[in-house]
Amino acid sequence: MFESLSAAKPDAILALMATFREDPRTDKVDLGVGVYKDGSGNTPVMGAIRKAEAQLHKSQTTKTYVGPAGDAGFNAAMIDLVFGDDVPKDRIRAAQAPGGSGALRILAELLRRARADATTWVSDPTWPNHVPLLGAAGLNLKQYPYFDAASGTVRFDEMIAVLGAAKAGDIVLLHGCCHNPTGANLTAAQWDQVTELVLEKELFPFVDLAYQGFGDGLEQDAAGMRRMAAKVPEMAVAASCSKNFAVYRERTGSAFVLGRSPDEAHIAIGQLLGVARGMYSMPPDHGAALVKLVLQSQELTTEWKDELETMRLRMLSLREGFAEALRRQSNSDRFDFLKHHRGMFSRLGATPEQVEQLRAEHGVYMVGDSRINVAGLPENDLDQLAAAILSVMGSSAS
Ligand SMILES: Cc1ncc(COP(=O)(O)O)c(C=O)c1O
Repeated sequence: MFESLSAAKPDAILALMATFREDPRTDKVDLGVGVYKDGSGNTPVMGAIRKAEAQLHKSQTTKTYVGPAGDAGFNAAMIDLVFGDDVPKDRIRAAQAPGGSGALRILAELLRRARADATTWVSDPTWPNHVPLLGAAGLNLKQYPYFDAASGTVRFDEMIAVLGAAKAGDIVLLHGCCHNPTGANLTAAQWDQVTELVLEKELFPFVDLAYQGFGDGLEQDAAGMRRMAAKVPEMAVAASCSKNFAVYRERTGSAFVLGRSPDEAHIAIGQLLGVARGMYSMPPDHGAALVKLVLQSQELTTEWKDELETMRLRMLSLREGFAEALRRQSNSDRFDFLKHHRGMFSRLGATPEQVEQLRAEHGVYMVGDSRINVAGLPENDLDQLAAAILSVMGSSAS
């Protein structure tokens, strides 16, 4: 059987992690892997989650199946967290999913069932895993222009022009906030313009919300998507709890469908659960049980929000400090985009050769497209890191 298979291509980020671990240099810097880190380089369990875990340990009396849709309390709490108050809740249905990735995959399968001939438009660039997740579900993927590397900004006019030429019924994948890998996001006004375009051209929005609370705040990060949800007839949203609750390995997320009517939403969720049944049957429970306990308790919610805010502000201050160090040493504003970007990632704009040189000569690790994890920036050594980067990328103004 297996002799017909050839070796799978190693995952670039996992391979980078392995090389980092084996690197004996003590001043090496890991800007590669996409998890939040604190000042000591750890990805801690949040205090509110620890407390929820202790409660669950005492109160859980069974580990029987939760059912394909997961826990009703988790689903209701996630609808509130993601959609807030302004969206018609009777047209939204939710399913607990194995992480944001699981939610993306089952929604992609649902959309392919619903409209097999649609094109799904993804941003150029997008999170690399979007391609296997959506492509393996059979969606036909094409790219819309998104990021201008020279200025570090969104190519919004080109994005609108390309999406404006899409067929009615096509699907547009949007990052809800904190775009991965670029960190460049749509403004509120641009979200509204995309919403107008979606309505005018009868496109179907599919939003990936993986970093709510990591950009401008919990409410602000969902605001563009919520205003869109309040206006469009139909929509799909995949939300991840991996980052904002730091429950990465528990595989916790939500798949949401917004239907034209409560009846249509009911039909869509029924089909979605059929998809899930055929893929993994039931979602994992532990992470969702913790998130539910946090969101259902005022005290734990307050603690969780405080912890999330501390993480967000740490990333913002690292952005500012790093941009400032680069500005001082290069005597130019060419890296100022770092402080305007939001979320865990930005792209530095280095070539693959420069990325390799940074690793080999300076022990600075980043993904080949020069995506850096802002949370991995060394808060006490920003000057040294800026010097290494400028020595490789050139220190003159451009
Ligand atoms: C843009 C984006 N979407 C979705 C996810 C999925 O996260 P998970 O499946 O770990 O919840 C990630 C994780 O890195 C991401 O960056």
